[in-house]
Order: sequence, then structure tokens, then C-alpha cells
Amino acid sequence: MEGDKGSSLRVAWNRLSADYQRRHQIPTHSAHYGPWAPLENELRLLGDVRGQRILELGCGGGQCAIAFARQGAQVAGIDLSDAQLAHARRLATEAQVKVDFVQGTVEDLSAFADGSRDILFSAYAFQYVGEMPRCLAECRRVLRAGGRLVFSLDHPFRDCFFDAEEDEMAVFPVRSYFDPAPMHWKWAGVAELAMTSHHHTIAAWVEMLAGAGFRLVRLLEPAPPEEMLDEIWPSDDALSALRLIPQTIIFVAEKG
Ligand SMILES: C[S@@+](CC[C@H](N)C(=O)[O-])C[C@H]1O[C@@H](n2cnc3c(N)ncnc32)[C@H](O)[C@@H]1O
Repeated sequence: MEGDKGSSLRVAWNRLSADYQRRHQIPTHSAHYGPWAPLENELRLLGDVRGQRILELGCGGGQCAIAFARQGAQVAGIDLSDAQLAHARRLATEAQVKVDFVQGTVEDLSAFADGSRDILFSAYAFQYVGEMPRCLAECRRVLRAGGRLVFSLDHPFRDCFFDAEEDEMAVFPVRSYFDPAPMHWKWAGVAELAMTSHHHTIAAWVEMLAGAGFRLVRLLEPAPPEEMLDEIWPSDDALSALRLIPQTIIFVAEKG
């Protein structure tokens, strides 16, 4: 990652962290795949993690890393943001688990040795990563042969309805699915904080994974729980069309 971009992202997440953690109240009894998807305890994509060496990429407040540690895994987490990591360390102390939290970018995993991890996991962080091929090359290096990379992010269909200027979802698509340009938007409520996220089509993700030497094992588009849809976009709401598209995508890939 270029230094300037890395440091502005870090500053942004340092400013956002308190609001993000207060709003989301993320659990630590199970890893999660973002606000719209079932928890890992239900999906069971990682299987029994006891004794597994797991690295969480873009670990934020550390909730998933802590959940893995509570289940007996040996866990490390990496994140850019000092404030997010401070939250993660506090939570790990409260939960009385040991997690090695490291500050850094997911494009440079030099803190971790070649082949030193069984599982790499990431929830809703890869959409902020500008240099995904570099990140995937690092993931491949750090994983042992046959190790798995499991990650979730906003579904690219959802991105098409995201009106960056208004920072809200639109009734009709406002952005082409095929447009690879970064999305610039402002995080509502926190001093109009400028954010950038990156959009790739599903085919582009599959190509990037294959190009980095990963074999795609599963691709999931879980339906959000109906109660959540009822609350956010009731069927008589102007935005109810958003109920018809997937919100989250999850990739499970294996080091070839
Ligand atoms: C939406 S939060 C998700 C955090 C956590 N995975 C969770 O589920 O709560 C995105 C996180 O990714 C981190 N992040 C963004 N880009 C990063 C990068 N290039 N390297 C490391 N961390 C990054 C941010 O600091 C932030 O904590």
C-alpha cells in the first residue's frame, strides 16, 4: 500500500473506531461475516478451529479473533488502526484470551513467517484494500500448503445501489456492476469522514484468487435473516427492491 493512502485510511479508522464499536456491538462468542450474514457458528465454514493457527486480516475490534481464541485456536490479528487495536486488546483482556494483535497493512504480512498459518480469515475488511493482488500474494506466502483463506465483504450487487454522494442506498442501481473505479463516500455521523472502498465483480475476484494461486472451494451469498429485512426494508418500503439482492458475499479458497 502506498504510504499516504495507508496513513489516511489509518487516520480515518482511528476516528471511526469508537462510533463503529458503539453502533455495532459485535459479539465475541462466534466469528461473524458482517451485518447481513449468519454467524460462523451457523455456517461452519472453518470447521473445528481447536489448535488451528489463524490470522485475522483487518481484525478491527478483534471480536472474530477473540471468538477463535475462545474456541481453542492460536490466533493473531492484524489491522491498520491504533484505535481499533486498542479496542481489540481491551476485549481480549476482558475475555481472558491470548491473541497476538499486530499493527500493519494486509498488503505486507512480513510480521508472519512463510507457511505459518492454517487459516486466514477476514470479515468486511477487503473492500478497503487498494492493492488486492499484493495482499493475496502475501496471504499465499503465509498460509501452509492446503491452508484456507476465508473472507466476506459487501456483495458487489449491493455496491451498485450505493449512492456515494448521498451516502445511502438507492431505489435503482446508481453504479455499473462493471465499473472498477474506487468508490468515494462519506461515513455518516462521524464528521463526514471521507472513505474509499474498492469494487470488484465476482468474476474479477475469482480471477484474482486464481492468479494468486488459490483454488476457489466455495462461494456463498447468504440471504439476510427475514427479521432483519423486515426491519430495514419492509416490503411496503420504497427501498424494498433491496430485499431481492444478496448483501454479503463469502469466499472460501484453498492454497493450491
Ligand atoms: C469494517 S471494519 C471490519 C473490522 C472487523 N473485521 C469486524 O468485522 O468488525 C474494517 C477494518 O479493516 C481495517 N483495514 C482497512 N484497510 C486495511 C488494510 N489495508 N490493512 C489492514 N487493515 C485494514 C480497518 O482499520 C478496520 O478496522
